[in-house]
Amino acid sequence: MDAEQLRECAHKMVDFIADYYKNIENYPILSQVQPGYLRELLPDSAPARPESLTNVLDDVQSKILPGVTHWQSPDFFAYFPSNSSTAGFLGEMLSAGINMVGFSWISSPAATELEMIVLDWLAKALNLPDEFLSTGKGGGVIQGTASEAILVVLLAARDKVLRQIGKDNIGKLVAYCSDQTHSALLKACKIGGIHTENCRVLKTDPSTEYALSPESLGEAISQDLASGLIPFFLCATVGTTSSTAVDPLRELGKIASNNGLWFHVDAAYAGSACICPEFRHFIDGVEEADSFNMNAHKWFLTNFDCSALWVKDRSALVESLSTNPEYLKNKASQDNMVVDYKDWQIPLGRRFRSLKLWMVLRLYGLENLQAYIRKHIELAKKFEELVKLDPRFEVVAPRNFSLVCFRLLPKENNLELANRLNRALLDAVNSTGKLFISHTVLSHKYVLRFAVGAPLTEERHVVAAWTTLQEKAFDLLTNFTE
Ligand SMILES: Cc1ncc(COP(=O)(O)O)c(C=O)c1O
Repeated sequence: MDAEQLRECAHKMVDFIADYYKNIENYPILSQVQPGYLRELLPDSAPARPESLTNVLDDVQSKILPGVTHWQSPDFFAYFPSNSSTAGFLGEMLSAGINMVGFSWISSPAATELEMIVLDWLAKALNLPDEFLSTGKGGGVIQGTASEAILVVLLAARDKVLRQIGKDNIGKLVAYCSDQTHSALLKACKIGGIHTENCRVLKTDPSTEYALSPESLGEAISQDLASGLIPFFLCATVGTTSSTAVDPLRELGKIASNNGLWFHVDAAYAGSACICPEFRHFIDGVEEADSFNMNAHKWFLTNFDCSALWVKDRSALVESLSTNPEYLKNKASQDNMVVDYKDWQIPLGRRFRSLKLWMVLRLYGLENLQAYIRKHIELAKKFEELVKLDPRFEVVAPRNFSLVCFRLLPKENNLELANRLNRALLDAVNSTGKLFISHTVLSHKYVLRFAVGAPLTEERHVVAAWTTLQEKAFDLLTNFTE
């Protein structure tokens, strides 16, 4: 690599990206291309001779960007956000620049040590119990995604119980979650060899605002015990994907600990809000948990990927996931003086991801990060008020954070018709390219999700989105016959 060439090209790239952000509102938010569009536009094979960066960037502008859905657009309200920020971007750049692979402490000591320190900082900002800090038996680790976080703790929990009851009993292990738990848990069970029929997906309904009821968990565990099965894992959620429901951690955690279950709390999206004292109560009861995860790459200004996972007993992870091949042996590891993060995750290799979280925490500071979260929650409240003011619509689930679940009501009270109408409304607004929203189904109702969380979103974007929704709703209510 030639340093001067890097300087020149990287300046061009930064200019390109800065212009992208400057013009981001001009693109259709949801890409409007058809499947396979790109094959028509690019050659069949790689070039034999080098091309110029200018040519490549021209192609990015004319061929790639039309196929991009603009997650950083201020009019993106679809899935939970995946934030970027100047600090997060700079951290990514630095990490790409240094480009080391920090699987063991010795392979790049600063990478391991910074990750431990930064996750302790974040644990303190969230007011997590001290047992999650790296100064005791626990600690934090950055995983790529919440799915990986859930998988590694499920494997640790599985192996912990199998060490006691013998590996031949894996077929008896039962995991518990609700019908609102992210599908990552069922995938983790599949990978971890937990039979699908031993995954108890407990039903929720509006009576608990879609939270998992401790009574239904208690009953399911009793039935399984009576059938000779072995309950081993419970996944609760703070801020479910469909509607941001909050499971009652304290009561669920007590049941888990009375029955010897590993208790995991998934706060992938909503965890970020809990750095604000007024929202911290949503994770009250986390003291009962064995592990906790939140995605700094969702709503915490840290560019993808950065999923923070904390455990109270790091040895459970290490016993499940450690390998010790000759070619990786070194004195610091052999003498047990260091953390080797390769033993807390699925892959061996790992990037220097803590740099970007460190940058975010240092360049913004906790007070600004709190203000950032509060602003989005206020904007979501504003949207909720607008929906409530219009009798043609209804809010379908409580708004706990920055997600509003709502739907358009048909002229006659008919569930099937209402579902078709809302599907049509979703397509109609998304095909304008002016905003992007998503949907879910709650109690058989097709529901629209409006999630505020893109860093550039201001009140004017929320109001404009609502105007488009109202216009399309008017058209549909006038013309909808099917
Ligand atoms: C509550 C919850 N858990 C887990 C996930 C999965 O996240 P990831 O893509 O980081 O695996 C999501 C994604 O939105 C989520 O909302």
